[in-house]
Amino acid sequence: MPKIKVLPHEDLCPEGIEFEAEQGKSVCENLLNHSVDIEHACELSCACTTCHVIFVEGFNSLNESSDDEEDLLDKAWGLEQRSRLSCQTIVSNSDLTIEIPKYTINMVSENHPKPKNESNREISSIDFDISNSAAKHLNSMVASKNSSGVRISLKDSGCSGFAYQIDLVEKIEENDFNGLINGVNLFIQDKSFVFLKGTKIDFVKKNLNEELVFLNPNVSAECGCGESFNFDSNSIIDLSTT
Ligand code: FES
Repeated sequence: MPKIKVLPHEDLCPEGIEFEAEQGKSVCENLLNHSVDIEHACELSCACTTCHVIFVEGFNSLNESSDDEEDLLDKAWGLEQRSRLSCQTIVSNSDLTIEIPKYTINMVSENHPKPKNESNREISSIDFDISNSAAKHLNSMVASKNSSGVRISLKDSGCSGFAYQIDLVEKIEENDFNGLINGVNLFIQDKSFVFLKGTKIDFVKKNLNEELVFLNPNVSAECGCGESFNFDSNSIIDLSTT
């Protein structure tokens, strides 16, 4: 019987684990059957990236990936050459060693790993800064709708992966990060915070228009039209170290 060895993952299996795998079943099913609670937001239907794993050994023994899987993998956090979606890889007769990335970019799962410092959700201008012109613009938006502040989050978008979403705050979300930045009552969605840390927003003139521009040091690639972007795992700031 082939074996699956899972390298230690802080939240899912801190000590690592090794078990005899069931051939013909997906790696994801095998992990779940052995209490490695890997995320699987789309219920193994190849419609999310949350079951992403990296094959340290055994990659060449795996079934070929489909176009759909390849497209989704482009959005995965911490993508590497030997990355696969575990729900789409079937165990054959070879042993496998896998690494589960520290994060998933999962905007819907309730089980997304939370930042370590749960009690401190206050943000300062070191975490996220707003220029004078952007503050003036954002505060006029807030005033025009009588809102409590501005909420920033990431959403799935376009060919490169993600886009910024700005909402006026009607209802305060319990887990949001919050701070008064340059006079703006700013809220940041908890799951997006780690990917936004260090960002500065400016409000600039572009041709005849003015628009908000995000200067985000964590972004590693943008699509040609500049509408969407992705992240490099190495550029993500680990909240547990701050
Ligand atoms: S669980 Fe969604 S792609 Fe694997």
